[in-house]
Amino acid sequence: MRKKIVAGNWKMNLNKNDSEDLVNNILNHLDDNFSPQIIFAPPYLFLNNVIELCKNKNNIFVSSQDCSAYTDGAFTGEVSAKMISSYDISHVIIGHSERRKNFNETNDILNHKINQAINNHLNVIFCCGETLSDRNNGLYFDVISDQLLSTVLSLDKSKFSNIIIAYEPIWAIGTGVTATADQAQEVHAHIRRIIKDKYGDAISNKTSIIYGGSCKPANAKEIFSQDDIDGGLIGGASLNYKDFISIIKAF
Ligand code: PGA
Repeated sequence: MRKKIVAGNWKMNLNKNDSEDLVNNILNHLDDNFSPQIIFAPPYLFLNNVIELCKNKNNIFVSSQDCSAYTDGAFTGEVSAKMISSYDISHVIIGHSERRKNFNETNDILNHKINQAINNHLNVIFCCGETLSDRNNGLYFDVISDQLLSTVLSLDKSKFSNIIIAYEPIWAIGTGVTATADQAQEVHAHIRRIIKDKYGDAISNKTSIIYGGSCKPANAKEIFSQDDIDGGLIGGASLNYKDFISIIKAF
């Protein structure tokens, strides 16, 4: 069965105290038998505090929001996958559209990051998604195929097992505009199809594909109920414990 996942991507928000309050509030309000995996992706500086707060909690994981494309050495300001994996951190987000756009991350850079992550046994949450003009021009299937085939879908089959795909239409991120459940399902089914074409049925059926882009309590249930949608990568709504809990409960 595919893993159901609700991941909170905090981006560059909160401070030390706010981040601890947020995690404590979420942990205190979770039902004992919550069903999806929960992943917190705080900024680097707060990772260790979040790890401490989540210690010994079942089904809760910690992710970094990025990792370096380099192994180690003279790269001021960078954080390597090897450093990340020396903590109790299981996941890394790679290929977020904000990194592609604002930090000029090309497929070549992303491939280095993916390899660094895999070599250090991290699970990769790999983001893909089209712009509004790609969508309006009917190019979104092609754009997404290209983003995946030139990165995670060029991996050997054996390395793909630790990949989670996040479909994040750029026009929906942080805009308050969400893809409809049908729009999201259509793309998730497309992604699952191209995974199947590349690696076969078994792997495609086992890969979690999560949705991101203004996912919130009001729309999570409908989005998560779609056949090929296995959860969400939540930005803004992951910063508010009540919203994040409601989204977790939408499963
Ligand atoms: P959003 O961000 O939920 O604020 O739209 C999602 C994301 O960028 O991961």
